[in-house]
Amino acid sequence: MATSYSEYLALERLLALQGGLTGNERDLAPAELLFIVVHQIDELWFKLALHELERARDIFAQKQVDEQALAPAAAGMRRVVKTFEVAAAHFALMETMSPRDFLDFRTKLGSASGFQSPQFREVEMLFGLADEDRVKFGEQEVMAAFAPKAGIAGWAERKVVARAANRTTLKIAIESWLARTPIDGSTPDQPGDASRVDAFLDAYLACHRHEVNAAMKAQQPGGSIDPQVAALYAAEMEQAELFLRRGDDVKDDPRRRRLRAAALFIESYRELPLLAWPREILDLVIQLEQAFLIFRQRHARMVERMIGRRVGTGGSDGVRYLDETALRYRIFGDLWCARRLLVRQGGAPALANAAFYDFRSA
Ligand code: HEM
Repeated sequence: MATSYSEYLALERLLALQGGLTGNERDLAPAELLFIVVHQIDELWFKLALHELERARDIFAQKQVDEQALAPAAAGMRRVVKTFEVAAAHFALMETMSPRDFLDFRTKLGSASGFQSPQFREVEMLFGLADEDRVKFGEQEVMAAFAPKAGIAGWAERKVVARAANRTTLKIAIESWLARTPIDGSTPDQPGDASRVDAFLDAYLACHRHEVNAAMKAQQPGGSIDPQVAALYAAEMEQAELFLRRGDDVKDDPRRRRLRAAALFIESYRELPLLAWPREILDLVIQLEQAFLIFRQRHARMVERMIGRRVGTGGSDGVRYLDETALRYRIFGDLWCARRLLVRQGGAPALANAAFYDFRSA
């Protein structure tokens, strides 16, 4: 028998799932169907995002990543960027509901809140958001929101616990791949790699100082530089030193130093053929995190418009909590920080081993 559209998509079951607490759509408040549908659609987008991010994570987690495997990884990451963009656009649809329409049925939610979305937490965990970096409100811990005492079915808790147990995150996988980038033709398995990397960093820091000084002079040409502004530029240079060489998180950690050096190396020589994939992936990582961040920010603006600064049903201080997550969470922190240190084309050190990065005939 031929398969029908409805069967393939399980439409009968899907469209019977919008009945809210009683299971009967006739009991819904006028705007409640919109509220349920948007949440359900977003959960489907989270499902798709998890699927694509897992595939990308598995590719980068391999000890040796084939060039051919990078195209599907990049395609998946690009799809997730678009997914978050589309999901963020749904908040405009939610805003067609007036605050009073929402208040009509808000008490039905009890203590239910997006804070308890297991898939949203899974996305964060798969990205690599560390528990200690989370914004807390009151006694609320993320996992506590899934404990049975919160009245939530064991399914959500099991999902989040299983995800938390898998320690290979996208961050770990991508960072270890990036950290293996050849720097000035040297790879981590070669003798003398550490000193090649350090030589690149020394040269880069010298160029960075030169660029910062030039930017400072350009700001007040011919005139004396305001000491406060000069202090800001001096801090830029100090930050660069700390980030690349002297900071506590990097000075005894050659792997982290190499990752940071790799990010700057790829950006500085991004036109080289051999760096085509690394630069594409680096761009996608930033796009991915930015799209997720914009989802958070867009949600917070919609929430502010809908309920003002009141307490959330999940028990947080609402918009203040949401804004803090958007401000604080940076999963690929090293890659974001590296952007502060970028220099214009031609401002970076001369490439020590240019031939290594060109197309070579076999
Ligand atoms: C009228 C519409 C909405 C309102 C007023 C609202 C309000 C809130 C508030 C106040 C919070 C903070 C936690 C709390 O105290 O409850 C929150 C968290 C959250 N909401 Fe919404 N929300 C709405 C729609 C949505 C939609 C459509 C989604 C899409 C899935 C969503 C996803 C989330 C998520 C994932 C969190 C957790 C954020 C985090 O902990 O970082 N919300 N929401």
